[in-house]
Amino acid sequence: MERPLTSNIYPDRPPLNLKEYEQAGGYAALRKVCSGMSPAALQKLVQDSNLKGRGGAGFNTGIKWSLVPMGDEAPHPKYLIANADEMEPGTFKDRVLLEGNPHQLIEGMILAAYAIQADTAYVFLRWAYHEAAALLRKSIQEAYDAGYLGQDILGSGFHLDMHLHTGVGRYMCGEETALLNALEGKRATPRAKPPFPQISGLFGKPTIVNNVETLCCIPHIVNNGADWFKGLSYSEDGGTKLYGVSGKVKKPGAWELPMGITMRELIEEHAGGMKSGFQLRGVLPGGASTDFLTVQHLDIKLDYKSVAAAGSRLGTGTMIVMDDGTCPVGFVHNLQHFFAQESCGWCTPCREGLPWVEKILLAMEKGEGRKEDLELLQMHTQLLGPGNTFCALAPGAMEPLQSALKYFRDDFEKHIDHKKCPYD
Ligand SMILES: Cc1cc2nc3c(=O)[nH]c(=O)nc-3n(C[C@H](O)[C@H](O)[C@H](O)COP(=O)(O)O)c2cc1C
Ligand code: SF4
Repeated sequence: MERPLTSNIYPDRPPLNLKEYEQAGGYAALRKVCSGMSPAALQKLVQDSNLKGRGGAGFNTGIKWSLVPMGDEAPHPKYLIANADEMEPGTFKDRVLLEGNPHQLIEGMILAAYAIQADTAYVFLRWAYHEAAALLRKSIQEAYDAGYLGQDILGSGFHLDMHLHTGVGRYMCGEETALLNALEGKRATPRAKPPFPQISGLFGKPTIVNNVETLCCIPHIVNNGADWFKGLSYSEDGGTKLYGVSGKVKKPGAWELPMGITMRELIEEHAGGMKSGFQLRGVLPGGASTDFLTVQHLDIKLDYKSVAAAGSRLGTGTMIVMDDGTCPVGFVHNLQHFFAQESCGWCTPCREGLPWVEKILLAMEKGEGRKEDLELLQMHTQLLGPGNTFCALAPGAMEPLQSALKYFRDDFEKHIDHKKCPYD
């Protein structure tokens, strides 16, 4: 089984330095592109590979790039940003790539920047990733010294500068337009779309924001072709995927596997199944802001379409497993506490609604829930749902709640009827 993204990542040794990365085939893709591939051909190659953005929404990366204005009349500077904010609870896949092989990300960023003819690239890094920050600083300098960054890269006439920017540790900064505001030194609130960042992004100029894992795929697509990339997958979405599992499984962790493996294979084979004494009750398949799936969904394929058809989202592909000894009300309360705390306060349903939801769930946990609270919670899942708030934070927060009300309703009712948490 090929694992292009992680084949040079070893948990027991430091990441490859520039020389070692080059010896392993690194920067060959950049050489290939700089020796005569046009930006349009690179965009088309990535579009044909069917690489879908790994930041959560799953949009075709090549198509996204193709929306950037090109040619002599295009506004400059243009920007390419690696979204390395990674604050979704349960998600740690980008960290594996950032700490495991920083040059792979840098090469992917230079290629993406070339495809849209960007002038400047930024890594927007989660504040808490101190080790990744140190590695990136060192690796960016190595890339400058080797002529992979700066003026006239490898004699191609293409110039690119790259900077590392560390965030302040807010979940909201991962939303791409809030990220742009944060990078401009403004309050991290989202922007209205349209205009989309491809047209008017950082400082009002054309900008692409891509996830770390998305960008790490690019060198491999350039080296091996679109058909090879599609062939790695068990589904119509191209490539491999960094899946992860946390919760009471025997071997929590992250694995690079073909896109479209089943949830059963991931949990039972790679994560070793549940710890003894625990049964699987529910799974958030793509981080905290996705809908619960249950035992009946174990055989679904983990790709964008199949997970959506089952009523959830692949999201980041890093799943949180909830066991039968965990109270679903307490579990969801914990998540809503996070989301309420991370709301940027820009729009009323989210700013007021999330703390209200959190308060109701806390009261239930303490045995102070009322019959009408179930209806109130249900009402919030609609009021804070898609189309009613300025960004996707609040609708995302409602996904675990609405699916918990659907699959674990009994637990909510028991809290109210017995005036206590049945798991205490
Ligand atoms: C509240 C919120 C937080 C987000 N956090 C991240 C993040 O940490 N990393 C990320 O890549 N995308 C995050 N996204 C998605 C980004 O807005 C954007 O879709 C993504 O970076 C695009 O990259 P892609 O096309 O490579 O998937 C977040 C979205 C929302 C609504
Ligand atoms: S939904 Fe929440 S996080 Fe998004 S803009 Fe509104 S208040 Fe801010």
